[in-house]
Order: sequence, then C-alpha cells, then structure tokens
Amino acid sequence: MMRINALAEVSPIDGGGNCRLALTDEDMHGRNLVVDWMRECGLEISVDAVGNIIGTWNVGAGAPVMSGSHIDTVRTGGRFDGCYGVLAALEVIQTCQQAGITPPRPLAVGVFTDEEGARFAPDMLGSLVYVGGMPLEEALDVIAIDGAKLGDELVRIGYAGVTPCPGPIPHAFVELHIEQGPMLEANGVRIGAVTSVQGISWQEVTIVGQSNHAGTTPMSLRHDPALVAAEITVFVRQLAKEMGGDQVCTVGKIDLHPNLTNVVAAKATITLDVRNTDDVLLNQAEAKIAEFLQVVASAENVQITTRKLVRFEPVKFDERVIDCIEEIAKQQGNTVQRMPSGAGHDAQMLARVCPSGMIFVPSVKGISHNAAEFTETVDLIAGANILLHTMLSLTTLEPTSELTN
Ligand code: GLV
Ligand code: MN
Ligand code: MN
Repeated sequence: MMRINALAEVSPIDGGGNCRLALTDEDMHGRNLVVDWMRECGLEISVDAVGNIIGTWNVGAGAPVMSGSHIDTVRTGGRFDGCYGVLAALEVIQTCQQAGITPPRPLAVGVFTDEEGARFAPDMLGSLVYVGGMPLEEALDVIAIDGAKLGDELVRIGYAGVTPCPGPIPHAFVELHIEQGPMLEANGVRIGAVTSVQGISWQEVTIVGQSNHAGTTPMSLRHDPALVAAEITVFVRQLAKEMGGDQVCTVGKIDLHPNLTNVVAAKATITLDVRNTDDVLLNQAEAKIAEFLQVVASAENVQITTRKLVRFEPVKFDERVIDCIEEIAKQQGNTVQRMPSGAGHDAQMLARVCPSGMIFVPSVKGISHNAAEFTETVDLIAGANILLHTMLSLTTLEPTSELTN
C-alpha cells in the first residue's frame, strides 16, 4: 500500500488519480521509482528494446514464474489499474525473501510498456511485442496521439533497452488486477478467477464534410461531420443494446475541426471501441457498424474513412491456472467466482506463450479509468496473498506441449 501511494505521488491529478501516459516524463519517473524498488529487493533487472522492464529473483533453476502488469495510465487514470499488479508481485518476492522461502525456480516481475494504448495504439503493445505478436520495428514506428514516435520517446526517457524482443518465455504467468467493473461488488464476492478476456476492436473513423458559416448555411444544404459523429455514437449504443449479452460499444474520443461555435465543422475524427467475449458476435458488430457508416455517409453526403487501431480475438486462460487461483482463494477463506474480463490485460498476451491466468479484486462502485478508482485495503491484501501462493504453486506446474491461444 505504501508503494502504491508513493507511485501515485508521481504525476498526481485531482481526485487522487494519475496521468502517466506511456513514455512521457511522468512514466519515466514512475519507472525509475519501480526500478529502485526492484534493486532494493536484489532483483536482476533487464530492459528490452520496447522498454519492458523485467525484474528477476534468480533462485532455483529454469524459466521464471512471472507476474506483473503496467504502470502507464490513461489521462484520467486511477492509482490501482496496473500498478497494483506490479507492486503486489514485488511484494510477493520480498515476502518470500524475508520469510526465507526459496522457490524451486525464479520469480519475476514484469512492467510492460504502453498497456493502456491511450497514447500509442494498440493497447498491450509492450506485452504483445514481448510474446512476438508484433515486430519490434513496427512497434518503434508507432506514432502517438501527440505526434511523437514510440522509438524516439523510449530513447528520450532512457528506456530503449538492449534485451532483445521477443523476450524469454516464462514457465507461467499470473496477473493480479482490480476488476475495473461492478460484478464482484454486486455479487458480494471478494475474488475473481478470470477465465477469459473479451475480444477488442478499435478503429478511428474520419468524417470529412463541407465547412461553412453556421448562420447562413440552410440546414438542407449541410454536409456536417459533427452530425454524423453524433449519429454514429447513437447507433453503436443502440447496436450494443440490441445485441445484448456481453456486447459493449464506446465512442470515447471526438475531435472536431475547426471546433468553433459559428462554423459547421470541416472534419470529425472519432474512435470506436467495440468488445465481445464471442468473436463471431464481435465480427457481426463490426460488420453492422461498417454498413451503417456507408448509410450515414451517403445520407449526409460526407466522406468517411476508417483506420484499424486494434483487433484482438477473445483469449481463454489456462484451466489449470484458473483452478489453482480458485482453490487457493477458497483455502484462504475468500468467496470466489469465475468470470471473464471486460478490460484488456498484459496476461492475455502472455497467454499466447505460456500457461497464464488472472486474479481480480473488487473495484468500489465498479469505477475505473477514473481518478475515483478505489479498492479496499483488505481486498488488496487478500489478492496479494492469493498471488503469493499462486506464484509458488505454479513453480511446480507441469509444462504443456500445446497452448490454447
Ligand atoms: C485497457 O485498459 C483496456 O481494456 O482498454
Ligand atoms: Mn490495467
Ligand atoms: Mn487501464
């Protein structure tokens, strides 16, 4: 808790949260602090070419059981999203060291670059590169929403490391995270044993119309990108409602140009975040949106172009890891439920290369990506204890020849 609060002192925003967009000066200060703490625990630290920081407690033999998460935040982030997972993993190692527990294989903590995708798309970029899902060169060339290049920003903040990507495959990976949604609290359950992560589709939609005088242009002669942006926003809300189930759709960003009171906009740029646990349904939602874009474009006589930012299929976690988390949570006297994750996480990338899973603790009122994000200390501690025993238990997990993702 002390480390969570200390990290939250780096780049604070009103309301107790953080703005630590990936590879900004604020991210650099946060990284420096975590690296200092890793050093204090005697971890061997490696920084790879995409800036992922891996701290390893080199005990025993073989590939490490790894935990970890991210410390970058969205612009209006809370203090727990990601940071909790990184700092709890460090706490697990320190606790073992202090208690004289020597695991049969190394334990490692990963701090993955740009999990949020709020500055550089896609989200989970660092862990994606770590597992070989995106070539390093492509990642280094990604341009931020502020125009900066990822590779240049890594060099600028001193985190363009020398360790090659993809990184070494861990024996197993487990990530502890706040739920960021309302289910655990609503069900009065303390621990979520995460079964899967839903598929994610992000696209940027650019609408170009005819900019003109707001007072003199008759309504019937307008080609208004602002109207079309609003219609798309309403459409995706209705689509999610009609599809029901796990379907969610969000327009989180709207930029109008020139963005002036008395000017019909020339251009609108919006983002669509569309998710479903079922990839077939996610494909259907994407197709319906594409169809609607054509319909509104011709109705208002504007040009619409789209740019894919992210497309990740749903991911299932390893049954043995899920069972292990569930069992340990119960043994420690917690209520526990199996549940999918609505948010994207680094563990979904690690699941491509090693047995992986996640532990959730409740988010008060289900609020996240918001400075008001909060989890009770008693829940944070329960989650960290389960992480400790899960990591130790996974050190003896039998290797599998086949992975599901
Ligand atoms: C990552 O936090 C995401 O799910 O958008
Ligand atoms: Mn997170
Ligand atoms: Mn997040």
